[in-house]
Amino acid sequence: MRNGTDPLLEVEGLTIDFDGAVSQPGLVQDVSFTVSRGESVALIGESGCGKTMTAMAVLGLLPAGFRVAAGRIALGGRDLLTCSARELRAIRGRSIGAIFQDPMSSLDPTMRVGDQIAEARRLHLKERRPVALRRARELLDRVGIPNADKRLASYPHELSGGMQQRVMIASAIACDPELVLADEPTTALDVTIQAEILELLRDLRTEQGIAVLLVTHDLGVVADFCDRVVAMYAGAVVERAGVEDIFGAPAHPYTRALLDAIPQSGRPRTVLPVIPGRVPPAGSFPTGCRFEPRCDHGGHDRCRAPQHEAAVADGRYSRCARVADGDLVLAAGVGAR
Ligand SMILES: Nc1ncnc2c1ncn2[C@@H]1O[C@H](COP(=O)(O)OP(=O)(O)OP(=O)(O)O)[C@@H](O)[C@H]1O
Ligand code: SF4
Ligand SMILES: [Mg+2]
Repeated sequence: MRNGTDPLLEVEGLTIDFDGAVSQPGLVQDVSFTVSRGESVALIGESGCGKTMTAMAVLGLLPAGFRVAAGRIALGGRDLLTCSARELRAIRGRSIGAIFQDPMSSLDPTMRVGDQIAEARRLHLKERRPVALRRARELLDRVGIPNADKRLASYPHELSGGMQQRVMIASAIACDPELVLADEPTTALDVTIQAEILELLRDLRTEQGIAVLLVTHDLGVVADFCDRVVAMYAGAVVERAGVEDIFGAPAHPYTRALLDAIPQSGRPRTVLPVIPGRVPPAGSFPTGCRFEPRCDHGGHDRCRAPQHEAAVADGRYSRCARVADGDLVLAAGVGAR
């Protein structure tokens, strides 16, 4: 499915400020990455690193108080940051599908699931209700909901968590989007259902060529499901690389620490490995390298300066002075030690 030459989503220099009671500039700072058509890209990083805010900015759904202060977000070449609210709603329904951790936050509890799925097609594709409901039935069937005919008339609360998540996926793909943005889509589900939902997403990618931006804490899922990885730390992207490269030879000390923290026995599951120390809270980021207080290679003058992304190799980037200065030469299986 990988097609690195045809970028669908382009995020360049995205910076998000929070203008609350205490203003927090650079909550997300200079984030750049692309997702090509049909590709699956993982957004990883510890809690509070800015993954959801980045995803919300792509959707044009930043919560009150947050604003894009700089950067560019484009889908298929179209600049999303200059779109009107109406245009963005149309793009969200038609071209980008969204799947969140909690299906009940997206599903309307007062509306039958068939109508919820059909509504997207009625609104965005101007289908008549019977036609849209027929497609909704096919979609329920496609996402593995038994007795789809009967389930069209169910309300969300009548379904299990796993079934609700399937309904949300059916809604997200109702208008055949080019991109699905999935923010921890399986975290709230038990392990067996998690595997089934990921299998479903994988099949949809293969069948329909949908690109996926997957926010996850699960490095096992990243290894299985994704083509490329964008690792975030304290609001900034610290490393971008192909999945084999990042697992084989991580270039940034943060990514290396995450991978070193994976238990050697068995696959990592559900939670990101724990590394010593904590992500600094927004508003207290170090002025230099944001990872410096936790980095085994910190303590140098160069680390106290703001860090910029530097190319490590073709298609690989790292935000680390050590890498930028050429002190690190990557070879297979040898990362930033
Ligand atoms: N509603 C809010 N008001 C103020 N600050 C917020 C709000 N939501 C998130 N933040 C802050 O924004 C920063 C980025 O949060 P974000 O939710 O994007 O992190 P995340 O990487 O998605 O974390 P997690 O893995 O826990 O979902 C964090 O510092 C967080 O504390
Ligand atoms: S810039 Fe310095 S402190 Fe930051 S990650 Fe690189 S080596 Fe560590
Ligand atoms: Mg989040």
